[in-house]
Amino acid sequence: MNFVEANGANIPAIGLGTWELRDRTCARLVEQALRLGYRHIDTAQAYDNEREVGEGLRASDVRRDEVFITTKIWTTHFKPNDLERSAKESLARLRLTEVDLLLLHWPNPQVPLADTLGALARVRQQGLARHIGVSNFTVALIEEAAAACPEPLACDQVEYHPYLDQSRVREACARHGMALVAYSPIAKGRIKNDRALLRIGDRYRKTAAQVCLRWLVQQGVAAIPRTSKLERLAENIDIFDFELSEDDMRQISAMGSAGSRLTDYGSAPKWD
Ligand SMILES: NC(=O)c1ccc[n+]([C@@H]2O[C@H](COP(=O)([O-])OP(=O)(O)OC[C@H]3O[C@@H](n4cnc5c(N)ncnc54)[C@H](OP(=O)(O)O)[C@@H]3O)[C@@H](O)[C@H]2O)c1
Repeated sequence: MNFVEANGANIPAIGLGTWELRDRTCARLVEQALRLGYRHIDTAQAYDNEREVGEGLRASDVRRDEVFITTKIWTTHFKPNDLERSAKESLARLRLTEVDLLLLHWPNPQVPLADTLGALARVRQQGLARHIGVSNFTVALIEEAAAACPEPLACDQVEYHPYLDQSRVREACARHGMALVAYSPIAKGRIKNDRALLRIGDRYRKTAAQVCLRWLVQQGVAAIPRTSKLERLAENIDIFDFELSEDDMRQISAMGSAGSRLTDYGSAPKWD
């Protein structure tokens, strides 16, 4: 497993996304993923599966200090007192004493960002989160957050895959020593039949999804693909035994455009 180093955090380059994984399926997939060698699990308060992620972790018999667990605070808990309380509730559901990374799930313009970041930093100082970060932050918000946060931010978790150009967010993260963690890294499954990726994959005996994940990791990005299928768990982590050529990397990067976002941002601030 490769790691992405970011402001003191060592983030395993591939993690298991768990959005929409529920109940026993979630616990079983987390357990199996850890048995297969995954060392990074991504959950969130909003996914309603923190309890099952904790169960999967305990069932796997992998040591707690070998696994990197991320959870995210939902926007309705961004007032300072709420944030601390809800972080503790997440830990109780996970049955952990600390998470490795605690993120603000989404910007919330209704609460001053500096207040929320102050509370997030205090949660870290209390030892409830080893690292803190943000998610769905635009370039402007990354700049504002990096200036306002009393503790270093380890990452911005954003949608990123070959169809979406995120070079400006990547540059902003790099300016502040933050990692970019790619969500929807295989474009919610749309990558699997991509002709160009299939053609590249043929040369390495890899699937389109593996080429896509390798392209992300080779840029120093961490990726958290989700699957509900055991065989795909193995496929999505089997990307560390080949290297894409510079030409392949360029060709895949050229596929992206700024407007191809799959996430519905609703009332979130405009990306710039
Ligand atoms: N911070 C945020 O706001 C945010 C937003 C969205 C997502 N996330 C995180 O990022 C994770 C991943 O994003 P995502 O769930 O949106 O999308 P994704 O990982 O890009 O794609 C998941 C879809 O791809 C399919 N798939 C997985 N591996 C495959 C493979 N090797 N070949 C073909 N199809 C494959 C899965 O179907 P099967 O189940 O049938 O395999 C599923 O339908 C989430 O689970 C969540 O943890 C965070």
